[in-house]
Parts: sequence; C-alpha cells; structure tokens
Amino acid sequence: MAEEGEEEVMELGAYGAAVRLVEDAAAEVLLLWALNDPAARRHNFFVRHAALTLPIDSCGRHLSILQSPSSMSTPGVTGAVMWDSGVVLGKFLEHAVDSGKLVLKEKKVVELGSGCGLVGCIAALLGGDVILTDLPDRLKLLRRNVESNLLDGGGVRGNANVRELTWGDELDSEFVDPLPDYVLGSDVIYSEGAVMDLLSTLRQLCGSSTTIFLAGELRNDVVLDYFLEAAMKEFTIGLVDQTQWHPDYRSYRVALFILVKQFPKLMPEDPDHI
Ligand SMILES: C[S@@+](CC[C@H](N)C(=O)[O-])C[C@H]1O[C@@H](n2cnc3c(N)ncnc32)[C@H](O)[C@@H]1O
Repeated sequence: MAEEGEEEVMELGAYGAAVRLVEDAAAEVLLLWALNDPAARRHNFFVRHAALTLPIDSCGRHLSILQSPSSMSTPGVTGAVMWDSGVVLGKFLEHAVDSGKLVLKEKKVVELGSGCGLVGCIAALLGGDVILTDLPDRLKLLRRNVESNLLDGGGVRGNANVRELTWGDELDSEFVDPLPDYVLGSDVIYSEGAVMDLLSTLRQLCGSSTTIFLAGELRNDVVLDYFLEAAMKEFTIGLVDQTQWHPDYRSYRVALFILVKQFPKLMPEDPDHI
C-alpha cells in the first residue's frame, strides 16, 4: 500500500509497465483537468473532421482511413470521422508492442464503438484477432475501411471482422466464447446516458485474463467522473502516463485508462467443515 499522499503504481492486466491507480473518481478528474488544462489546448490535433480521409502510417504501412464528414450533421452520429483519442490509442498500441510491453499477436481483441476503425485496424496489423464493432447502422464505412486497409493481404498478421454490437445488449457467443484478451475503446465515454450500457458490455466481455484499454477525450468532466465512479465499483483502473504513449502522438486532451475486473477474494476453507 502507498503511504498517505503517495501515488500507488502497479502493473495491471497484460500490460507490462506500471500505471498509476485511480483511487477516487472526483479527485482523478480534478487532477486531470488541473494538470492538463484541456480546454486551453487545441482539439482535433491529429485529425481533420472536414477531410474525406485520414492518412496515417502505422506498423510499416500507409493507412488511409475514409471519413464521412457530411454524416456528422445527422443527430447521434459521432463515428463518421476519427477522433484524437483513437489516433492516440492506435499509436499507443503500436508503441507498446514495439517496446515489448504488450503482445497482441494471436490474441482475441474486441473494439467497442470503432467508428471509422483505425484502432481495430492497427490492432490487426499488430497480429490481433480483432472484432471491430459499432451500432448496426454505422457498419458500412467501418467495413470499407477494414477492406481497403487490411484485406489486400500483404503485411497483415492478424484478422479483422466487423460486427454489430450495441452496448447494453446481451452478447452473442462469438464475443464471449472465449472471452477476449483485450477490449479497446476510444472516445466511447462521452454521454452520461450511455455509461451504464457501456459498463454492462465491459462486464460481459471481461474475464480474469481480459485487459481493457480506454482512451478518453478530456471534454466533459461530469461524464468522466460518472463513468469512473461507477466503473471503480467493479474494475481496478489505472492511468497510463503519457511518457508511455507513442512519442509523436501525445495529447493533453486525452487520457488513457487501463481497466481489469475485480474478482472477490476466495475465503480460506473453514477448518470446522473438513
Ligand atoms: C466519438 S465516436 C468514436 C469513434 C472512434 N472510436 C474514434 O476514436 O474515432 C463514438 C463511437 O461509439 C459508437 N457508439 C455510441 N453509442 C453506442 C452504443 N450504444 N453502442 C455501440 N456503439 C455506440 C458510435 O457509433 C461511435 O462510432
């Protein structure tokens, strides 16, 4: 245990570097806003929402992620363009694998709220067996991006499949049998109304060997506080320091969390019952 006032750091799940444990949701949010001052920083630093493509190099390949800026005027549509936190998470995964802190090769990976799909595509390039997911009416662009960036064969080590997954719904066996090694999500904590459904999905996907990475935009302190407060009841949460991110893809407007499920400790057997 850390002394009072000291930060507790430890390795969580399958990520091989120490992260700082989140111990109090409200204090964490205050700290993030105080240290990062996100409102004063430029947002959409790594992406251009008016552009039809997001060009980005990853895993030795040139990716071109199609976007649909015109769809963003449709109420409720948020994943028709890429967000900074997706770029940060994708490049973090690449950096973590390259520096030996993470293994995705032949691991089952489920991405939630994939949007245009950059994160899932990078996870597949890193050797993961990836299921990219989103709401049923958002899958067309996602499929096009997986096909155009991965299905030309050369250099792709893993697999990528696109499936419908609405948070809060009961999950098909494809997702949970076996449970994934990794669950990924970028900019999926942005609506208070969706937090409980998102947590329900994380709960269903998470076994004792599952590691969750969530990259969140520091946009709304109330929603992040609400998510952390609720999630801490069943997950241990750590904050991955920016020094561990890809050196070219760091942002004061993004926070990267790692979550692992808490399991009740088994009580030693009562000797009187032997
Ligand atoms: C802000 S976008 C982020 C997209 C992408 N992860 C990125 O970083 O660019 C949020 C994504 O979550 C998806 N989403 C929102 N609510 C959802 C729900 N209830 N079930 C499944 N996906 C949902 C949206 O369709 C969208 O693709």
